[in-house]
Amino acid sequence: MPSERQSVPRICDYEGSDYQQRFWEQGERQYEDQTEAIAIRRLLPKSGKLLLEVGAGAGRNTPRYQGYERVVLMDYSTTQLAQAQEFLGDSERYIYVAADVYRLPFVDGLFDAATMIRVLHHMTDAPKALAQIRQTLGPKAIFLLEYANKLNFKAIARYLLGRQAWSPFQHEPVEFIELNFNFHPRAVRGWLHSLGFAIQRQITVSHFRVGWLKRNVPLRLLVALDALFQYSGAFWQLTPSVFVRAQANNKVPAAEAGSFFKCPSCGAALPEVRKNYLDCGECDSRWGFENGIYNFKEPQKSS
Ligand SMILES: C[S@@+](CC[C@H](N)C(=O)[O-])C[C@H]1O[C@@H](n2cnc3c(N)ncnc32)[C@H](O)[C@@H]1O
Repeated sequence: MPSERQSVPRICDYEGSDYQQRFWEQGERQYEDQTEAIAIRRLLPKSGKLLLEVGAGAGRNTPRYQGYERVVLMDYSTTQLAQAQEFLGDSERYIYVAADVYRLPFVDGLFDAATMIRVLHHMTDAPKALAQIRQTLGPKAIFLLEYANKLNFKAIARYLLGRQAWSPFQHEPVEFIELNFNFHPRAVRGWLHSLGFAIQRQITVSHFRVGWLKRNVPLRLLVALDALFQYSGAFWQLTPSVFVRAQANNKVPAAEAGSFFKCPSCGAALPEVRKNYLDCGECDSRWGFENGIYNFKEPQKSS
């Protein structure tokens, strides 16, 4: 259910959602899942220290980040994170953080890599979300972004045949269902450039996302064909899903050793967790830590 909050963009709230089961496990989406895995393997550096997974959901992609010493699974939904804990099992490598991408609770320059897959399409204010992520990335950090592309074959055909009102050629996002947006590749690249990212590679994914093909062509063949076609993303992007590998410039210095969380209310660095709380010394906000999940959605107490 979408929630309305003052002065912050609307949020697509997955609290209590069975998304992982309904969409992935019962939804015949092995083709999409496997082609995404290939894109991640091709684009993300194999190893690193600390990776931020924005909108991690139930952790579907997290096992694909094996080469990273630690992974922060960040999501607005605590129930998605609880599912991720169950799926990934007990491990010191994972840090679970419930937070809003528009108010991230991490000190500047903390991460050396970040991914955001199937999440931008819920952003009412995509540039604001991207700017928040940018601040958490240190010099030369890699950001792997997947977005839903409005300039895809099907949308172009439907528009030209007069079966769709919105134009896939215009640069502004289209909200085709409430809180579900498709973006124009030029707009996404423009936002990334203006935030100080250099775009290193683009890969197009899901060239054959057509029910008939998925039912009639063997999965392995369809995935292999998609893997081949993914390289065409360097020249044009006409698929429903696009992956971009972007590198942060040097503007945000690396975080000081030992610092990690900041208060999402006032921005002050937070001390270590004590008695299941993180107390902000500046604004008196109290943030919880329960069942292995840091919760930065709403402060538990204010002055
Ligand atoms: C479609 S799911 C994708 C989950 C996962 N990335 C995957 O590909 O399986 C979108 C996720 O984005 C999260 N999300 C949506 N709005 C958010 C926000 N403002 N801040 C943090 N997470 C958000 C949702 O809770 C949900 O888990």
